[in-house]
Amino acid sequence: MSVLVTGGAGFIGSHTTVELIESGYDVVIADDLSNSKEEVLNRIEKITGKRPVFYKADICDKKALSDIFEKEKIDSAIHFAGFKAVGESVEKPLEYYRNNLLSTMNLLECMREHKVFDLVFSSSSTVYGTPETVPVTEDTPRGQTTNPYGQTKAVIERMMEDVSGADDRWHIMLLRYFNPVGAHASGLIGEDPKGIPNNLMPYITQVAVGKMDHLNVFGDDYDTPDGTGIRDYIHVVDLARGHVCALDNIRKKQGLNIYNLGTGIGYSVLDMVKAFEKSTGVKIPYVITKRRQGDIAKTYADPSKAKKELSFETKYTLEDMCHDAYYWQQKNPDGYGS
Ligand code: NAD
Ligand code: WQD
Repeated sequence: MSVLVTGGAGFIGSHTTVELIESGYDVVIADDLSNSKEEVLNRIEKITGKRPVFYKADICDKKALSDIFEKEKIDSAIHFAGFKAVGESVEKPLEYYRNNLLSTMNLLECMREHKVFDLVFSSSSTVYGTPETVPVTEDTPRGQTTNPYGQTKAVIERMMEDVSGADDRWHIMLLRYFNPVGAHASGLIGEDPKGIPNNLMPYITQVAVGKMDHLNVFGDDYDTPDGTGIRDYIHVVDLARGHVCALDNIRKKQGLNIYNLGTGIGYSVLDMVKAFEKSTGVKIPYVITKRRQGDIAKTYADPSKAKKELSFETKYTLEDMCHDAYYWQQKNPDGYGS
């Protein structure tokens, strides 16, 4: 079975490509390298012994995407390609709407034209907005998203509901990720943010290797036990395995189905700092600063639907997440390089 992986050179896409190859799938990647490096393909080959087919293509260019469907025999698709930086999306909303929506519309059209109807989409827990209760189940209504990035995910979810509702040939799974962190245990692939990291774990690992001198903890006055924000961190290899489970089961489910991918456990920012220090032996100096605009106090998943319907369960611990993220950063202090 051959899977088109859009955005397959990125953080989650590269880890998913490894898991797909190791599960016997053939992978065709379409990525414009706008937020990734071609070097990742060498690393995937090193881990799996197999090099995925790669097209450097902007999938907002419909002709470029269509050519891939013409040349390759594609059976299904996983759609990771898109812009993902929350803060940047506030500065550049139009660029975010354009890239995330147009790439998705092109993909859906090309799939329909080539009679490929099995699709897994990277959605986000961000679509829940500020949940009223935790853990969050998939029945929780989409909330008020706090930024244009989150809006693109919510709009795409609705678009896919409409598309699958109008044509029962579609099998679509929307995977709502909580907070992906960590790296492949080999230290060969991992997260390679451009510039100063926006997210907690890459910031911590950059402090650990001396690229940053301390962590800013965004607020300690939330209504949580230690006052810092609580999230559900999931190891990226578990998340990648979740995609393989989704594809393995996609034909068994009718229409569109939604799954949370998380561990079901919430950790605070200070829990993360302590866990990182314990797992790596490296001290993380931090300073409490004011809240970051748009942040919520607390969210974590109810992961039971994915367990019941996809047989998906996380297996990596918080210690694994910290250890693997640090190992990757130590081996690749400048990511994949320039
Ligand atoms: P990433 O930026 O590492 O990967 C996205 C990839 O898509 C990059 O390699 C980029 O070059 C490529 N891309 C972007 N626009 C493209 C286009 N028009 N044509 C072709 N390629 C394009 O991000 P990631 O962390 O791997 O996230 C993957 C997906 O998961 C994204 O859709 C993101 O919104 C979603 N997601 C991520 C997180 C997270 O915290 N990382 C959480 C929830 C959802
Ligand atoms: C985690 C916690 C911060 C950095 C974002 C997106 C979400 C999804 C995942 C794509 C929060 C605190 C962080 C720092 C800190 N992405 N923090 N100092 O905000 O939960 O989710 O990534 O879909 O849509 O919003 O993740 O890692 O940025 O923050 O104190 O330098 O760490 O306040 O409590 P977040 P994060």
